Amino acid sequence: MAHAHEVVEKNVGLLGVLVAIAISFGGLVEIVPLFFSADINQPSPGVTPYSALALEGRDIYLREGCYGCHSQMIRPFRAETERYGHYSLAGESVYDHPFQFGSKRTGPDLARVGGRYSDEWHRIHLMNPRDVVPESNMPRYSWLADSTIDPEKTVGKLRAMQTLGVPYSDEDIAAASAQVEGKTELQALIAYLQGLGTAVRGAR
Ligand code: HEC
Repeated sequence: MAHAHEVVEKNVGLLGVLVAIAISFGGLVEIVPLFFSADINQPSPGVTPYSALALEGRDIYLREGCYGCHSQMIRPFRAETERYGHYSLAGESVYDHPFQFGSKRTGPDLARVGGRYSDEWHRIHLMNPRDVVPESNMPRYSWLADSTIDPEKTVGKLRAMQTLGVPYSDEDIAAASAQVEGKTELQALIAYLQGLGTAVRGAR
């Protein structure tokens, strides 16, 4: 028995297997409880599923790759919370499939940009950022004003979210097409941006 350790040390294959077991166990102990923690998998108070228009706007955010320059994750450090507001909570992202945390910040974090500017500011900024922020290197997205949302696809998008566990009611789904009818992609994107981070802002 005194030489049991020697066996492990001299047998790299066995050592590898034992190391893998030790790491897996450590990982399970840390990760598995998170699946059952209400702090992580339940919505924070005030967080509701996206409106149909905001959900369409979110799709445009993804399609245009806004996440390539903007994170949506305020870290719990003073420099971050002074600038952006209360740090991000897991419960704010429960209806985000997939979440948009991101890590690249060419532009500012957008996790709490909702309500910071008027709709009109966003419209001008997205049409041509330099009209409101002269030194901006953000691209313009003026074509979004010319394309309208296809209401036929909206219902399917809400259904897909429902399948993933977002609590849309059948009435929400029935009303979805009417809500986006005739709206431009620009309006949808602004609706999405204006809702970001507003639910728990008061936690600050
Ligand atoms: C090439 C990088 C880049 C891309 C891509 C980009 N942005 Fe930006 N964005 C910036 C920069 C830099 C700023 C800061 C200057 C300014 O306000 O224009 C900014 C600012 C913003 C702001 C104002 C934030 C604040 O707190 O002042 C919003 C809102 C915004 N972007 C939304 C978007 C959206 C929506 C998209 C996708 C349609 C997008 N951005 C794509 C770089 C980018």
